[in-house]
Amino acid sequence: MLMNRRQFLGMSGATALVAVCSPQALAAQTLTLTHGAQQNVSATLKAMQQLAQQRNRLLGYPINMTTPPEEFFAWRNELAAAGFNQFSFNNVGNPYDHSHIPFNCHPFEKELINRFGAVYGFALDDIWGFLTNSGTDSNMHGLYMGRTILKGRTGVMPKIYFTREAHYSIQILRDLLHLDWVVVATRPDGGMDADDLERQLNANPNRPALVVATIGTTFKGAIDPIDAIQAKLKGRTAYLHLDAALFGGYLPHTAFAGDLLHSIVDPISKAKLQRYDSIAVSCHKFFGFPSPAGLFITTRTNFESFRAQFSQIHDPEYIQQVPGTITCSRDAVKPAEFYFFSSESSFIRQTADAKAMLDNTTYLLKEMNNHYSYLQPVRANDRSNTVYFITPSKTVVDHYSLATMQIDIEGERTPCAHVVVMPHAKKEILDQFLTDLRKT
Ligand SMILES: Cc1ncc(COP(=O)(O)O)c(C=O)c1O
Repeated sequence: MLMNRRQFLGMSGATALVAVCSPQALAAQTLTLTHGAQQNVSATLKAMQQLAQQRNRLLGYPINMTTPPEEFFAWRNELAAAGFNQFSFNNVGNPYDHSHIPFNCHPFEKELINRFGAVYGFALDDIWGFLTNSGTDSNMHGLYMGRTILKGRTGVMPKIYFTREAHYSIQILRDLLHLDWVVVATRPDGGMDADDLERQLNANPNRPALVVATIGTTFKGAIDPIDAIQAKLKGRTAYLHLDAALFGGYLPHTAFAGDLLHSIVDPISKAKLQRYDSIAVSCHKFFGFPSPAGLFITTRTNFESFRAQFSQIHDPEYIQQVPGTITCSRDAVKPAEFYFFSSESSFIRQTADAKAMLDNTTYLLKEMNNHYSYLQPVRANDRSNTVYFITPSKTVVDHYSLATMQIDIEGERTPCAHVVVMPHAKKEILDQFLTDLRKT
């Protein structure tokens, strides 16, 4: 027997619960929900279509809103024809090892990591990594690997070092990994103060150091100086992880490609020097991959040290390998799709995008200085695609989805906003933004 709404409301809570849990009641309920939900679905899709027309004015967050080229969608179709996204594929485990589950895209994942590893100057025979869910996920793997290696080497839990300008997720990961932490002071431009790092390292002589250097801090676009940091770490037990979520995508395609090189040859001793241990880069930021993903790249040597520790505690029998990844099941569709972004023609496109982005940032800064100098616009360095300034009106902040933050300017907490000039933020959009600023 189906009941009407009045009969239902007249019941006590417990009776109502039994009533809705009976199959008949459930059928009635489902019908009602389905009808309402269907209306909502159409309305929601319509709103999304309208929203899509405004995507170029997303200026406050580092997401590339450009639609990938047609060839990307053709590649998607090829993948679909091979079964991807048609039934369940799973990239569980280490893409460099044999997988007992054959339904994976490990060959594509391994190849794209090797290609990006080469872009970042890793020795070709010493690359390891995988495609993660996001920049945060890549950072998590970097910190977990660093913690495991340092603890294994010394028997002592490391302390983690980062600055106040690091992304907020670093603090979350610090909590997850139960790490004691040290906040390192910054220079006026927002980059890590290497002398303060040295002071802090000296104050903690009995603990290994897990250092996070941010190459492109979230709000200011500042750069922590890798070589100065490495110089302070010399002779200490340390692991240096780079959070290059945004800048890591485009710097290799600019005149500043050398900034992120993993290995360099010492000009005097001719010895090969490693400048960092691992790097995290987001795929949806500069590259414009249409959903969140991240690159995590380290050396094979680091992975082997990690594996040595990990396999002492965890029996890898179930999946027939030591995965090196925190999550068990991993997306197989994203690496197969992101493989597209590691092709020669994609690198050429990325070079053009990187140049346009930095040129447009220069343009924005110049125009703001010319017309709105009272907003005190700042670009932390010539590598940065970020300009921050005193917060304009709420209308402008909302219209362009500008991120806002209180920051110290000459000793005073000052409300600021920033524009991150991504590839979709072309001159026309920036001109509209500059015109709208006039009204504030
Ligand atoms: C420096 C930095 N690190 C990490 C992240 C987090 O990256 P994701 O959003 O890919 O998790 C961001 C995001 O803006 C960032 O700016």
